[in-house]
Amino acid sequence: MKILGIESSCDETSAAVVEDGRGVLGSVVASQVDLHRKYGGVVPELASRAHVECMIPVLTEALEAAGCGVADVDAVAVVNTPGLIGSLLMGVTAAKTLCWLLDKPLVPVNHIHAHVYAVCLDTELSPWPCVSLVVSGGHTSLFHSTGALDHACIGRTQDDAAGEAFDKVAAILELPYPGGPSIDRLARRGNPDAIHFKRSSLGPEGLDFSFSGIKTAVLYHVRGTDLSRTAASMDEAAKADVAASFQEAVVDMLVAATMRAANARHVDTVVLGGGVAANSRLRARLSEAAQAEGLTCHIPPLAYCTDNAAMVAGIGFHLLAAGRTAHLDVEATA
Ligand code: KG4
Ligand code: ZN
Repeated sequence: MKILGIESSCDETSAAVVEDGRGVLGSVVASQVDLHRKYGGVVPELASRAHVECMIPVLTEALEAAGCGVADVDAVAVVNTPGLIGSLLMGVTAAKTLCWLLDKPLVPVNHIHAHVYAVCLDTELSPWPCVSLVVSGGHTSLFHSTGALDHACIGRTQDDAAGEAFDKVAAILELPYPGGPSIDRLARRGNPDAIHFKRSSLGPEGLDFSFSGIKTAVLYHVRGTDLSRTAASMDEAAKADVAASFQEAVVDMLVAATMRAANARHVDTVVLGGGVAANSRLRARLSEAAQAEGLTCHIPPLAYCTDNAAMVAGIGFHLLAAGRTAHLDVEATA
């Protein structure tokens, strides 16, 4: 069974065709990074307009890559929540139009759950039950996942998302947009122990996160207590030390909470997903921590960490099998 997936929740327009929830036949991601770079972040109105321009070429290319026509797909799966409302609406409208024209089932997909599913693409892996950590630009959540569609939220950020913290700290350090990959690269040349940024642990079980404090701590470190300095006065080595120390603190918090969750829920598997799962230090540290406790750790390849439609088509197969289709009046919700 072939599912066409569409993802447009933020600043990537993506389409993919996935066979039986596993095999990625074709996947195309059109990034808007160049469009938003000069603003230092995603401009929602520009993002939704770019989705309009990219949608048909991206769909066409993904179907071509998969070697099939649009009439050959069995259903259309689309992210309808969460995300930027104007961006979501573009993907949802495209999906509804295709379903109406072709009389195919429409499958609404939760973007965060799709990030967990990304680890199953191009494999026969079935990691459930597990603890899943989804770290993206808009969300940081821990789930007790008992199936592809069953994710009980057991921890979340109380303020900024992890990716948001990476992006804001990159802006403080005057690093190129997008910030997460810039910090990751620069941190490789820095000392993670150079500056001690406080680690926080929240919630009754220590499974909640807060990243706004560390962002402010970095701001004061760089700019001084009167905020008069800027990163322009720092040399590359000093910036690399801040990047490495910040990254280490965030990774410490994410890894510690994930291991606590795995122990508390008595699972032997942890899964990582979302854009920040592309972070080299987080990938290495979570794998090491899991191994040290005899747990298995699954992390998707880089292309399936950041936003993509293959994960949407993949989980869409399971939603379709469970009868979780929608009428054409289904809404997009931020
Ligand atoms: O999942 P995603 O592509 O989009 C959302 O759903 O938000 O995640 C984007 C986030 C951004 O904040 C970006 O800076 C971050 O993922 N990111 C990274 C890395 N690659 C992307 N953060 C840290 N290190 C990376 N290598
Ligand atoms: Zn995402």
